[in-house]
Amino acid sequence: MQPQIEQLRREAEEQIRSVANVSQLEEFRVTYLARKGRIALLFDGLKGVPPDQRPALGKSLNELRAHVQQLHDGKASSFATVTGSASLDLTQMGRRGHIGTKHPLMQTMDEIKSIFVSMGFGIADGPELEDDYHNFGALNFPPDHPARDMQDTFFVTRDVLLRTHTSPVQIRVMENHQPPIRVIMPGKVYRNEAISSRSFCMFHQVEGLCVDKGVTFSELKGTLISFIKQFYGSSLKYRFRPTFFPFTEPSADIYITCFICNGKGCRMCKQAGWLEILGCGMVHPNVLRNVGYDTEKFTGYAFGMGIDRIAILRYGIEDIRLFFENDVRFLNQF
Ligand code: PHE
Repeated sequence: MQPQIEQLRREAEEQIRSVANVSQLEEFRVTYLARKGRIALLFDGLKGVPPDQRPALGKSLNELRAHVQQLHDGKASSFATVTGSASLDLTQMGRRGHIGTKHPLMQTMDEIKSIFVSMGFGIADGPELEDDYHNFGALNFPPDHPARDMQDTFFVTRDVLLRTHTSPVQIRVMENHQPPIRVIMPGKVYRNEAISSRSFCMFHQVEGLCVDKGVTFSELKGTLISFIKQFYGSSLKYRFRPTFFPFTEPSADIYITCFICNGKGCRMCKQAGWLEILGCGMVHPNVLRNVGYDTEKFTGYAFGMGIDRIAILRYGIEDIRLFFENDVRFLNQF
């Protein structure tokens, strides 16, 4: 039987060299190592040999089996590395991840926020669905004010409406906090306007409020001029013009030189050379009284600005509606 064992070893050694893939390796295993394979057959043959030769032959057979198993395993592990590297094809194109960007309006908003935060303002917000009292009454709007008309305001019920400005958040902040107060209040507002490339029924404002002992109009001017210089650049010209808001007295609108035409007059500034960017004023004593503040002790200023128009001017966008269409071809540009 010893010559058979030697013969089988040589055959196995030769055959393993020609095994080129996993299925040929399996064939090899079945031929030599399986329960009915050729090595097992030789083990069966042990029964027919004289008992005194059995131990030596058994030992040789065990060695043969271990050797062939080693041949098999060595090949298997070489296949593992080959298939491993085949699945990592370094020449394949990578899959590009689409990383979103911040909406241009939110980028503008973030910049405005960070300027005011650096000047010591906190950030507050309030509901978009408001009641008549917070949106109008507490802000000293007379009962017959035109803004209370259905034509300007989206009413949900007689008393509930979509806020037309962020000023009601002033009231909510003051109802819940005692002075000193220094906050900005960004958010969405709604007006029932004809939709066009320049106006939409929803837009964004940032409101500001400062109430403390001894707050003056000079402080208002200093703070807002500092903001304008940081946001628009220090060389820009600005001007304050008196105006009217029910909730501030005195009130002003702030204008900056139109940076599209540099003050010469264009379509954007309606030939005026100036762009109105902000409404502001000293908080009306009636408003302070409505939230229970002592008007002998406290004064304050407030301001409000539209964000959408600022962003339109900054990025040279032709139609405000592009902001709200969620077209990635538009949004990818920012
Ligand atoms: N709420 C005003 C508007 O929407 C802006 C404003 C806010 C004016 C605060 C003065 C003070 O036009």
